[in-house]
Amino acid sequence: MGLVFNYLPGQTPLDEDEKNGLKIQTILVQSELDEFEQKNIEQAILWTLTKKLSSVQLLTESFVKKLHKLMFGEVWDWAGSFRRTNKNIGVDKWNIPTELQKMFDDVLFWVEQESFEADEIVIRFKHRLVCIHCFPNGNGRHSRLMADVLVQNLFGREVFSWGRRTASSDVRSKYINSLRQADCNDFKSLIEFARS
Ligand SMILES: Nc1ncnc2c1ncn2[C@@H]1O[C@H](COP(=O)(O)OP(=O)(O)OP(=O)(O)O)[C@@H](O)[C@H]1O
Ligand SMILES: [Mg+2]
Repeated sequence: MGLVFNYLPGQTPLDEDEKNGLKIQTILVQSELDEFEQKNIEQAILWTLTKKLSSVQLLTESFVKKLHKLMFGEVWDWAGSFRRTNKNIGVDKWNIPTELQKMFDDVLFWVEQESFEADEIVIRFKHRLVCIHCFPNGNGRHSRLMADVLVQNLFGREVFSWGRRTASSDVRSKYINSLRQADCNDFKSLIEFARS
């Protein structure tokens, strides 16, 4: 029992068997884990930049899993596999595949019908995905990268900045607050945050 995890507000804690899925036994402190995950994610980002993918390819269970595996597969043995435990956030573990499919159908419909402006379609997708909470961990980072991939490939837009351009020190609380507004079906602040 080496590593003790620190969780930021709004982060999902791991269960014991999920903690045992750590592939790199030399990791002893949270900052080392963060670094390994970050390196892994950077490789995944590079991979996404080499691909041109259509909505039919992107809005699938297999792509959702594949991207999570590319982001976390060097660090966690459960990367790319749906969670087998329930969390304080997310749908019941058995409902993940059906909830995903309903979301894909809705997003395809919004894209075809131009129901919302491009950024709003993608941010609604991001929020719905993180609310399903497919994986034991990494759902926030995965949903943000999925959103970046969608906005580039479906709409030819630049990736989101997710608060990186603001000088403000409370980026995290801005992010969590805008997610809470999105929980109440108000997406304005999350859309603004994503481009700030
Ligand atoms: N009230 C909420 N409504 C919607 N999503 C939420 C809410 N609270 C937290 N979340 C999402 O859950 C994520 C945390 O889940 P998880 O720990 O699996 O992701 P992570 O990638 O490890 O963390 P993070 O995105 O914080 O870096 C948050 O980043 C956020 O996107
Ligand atoms: Mg987390």
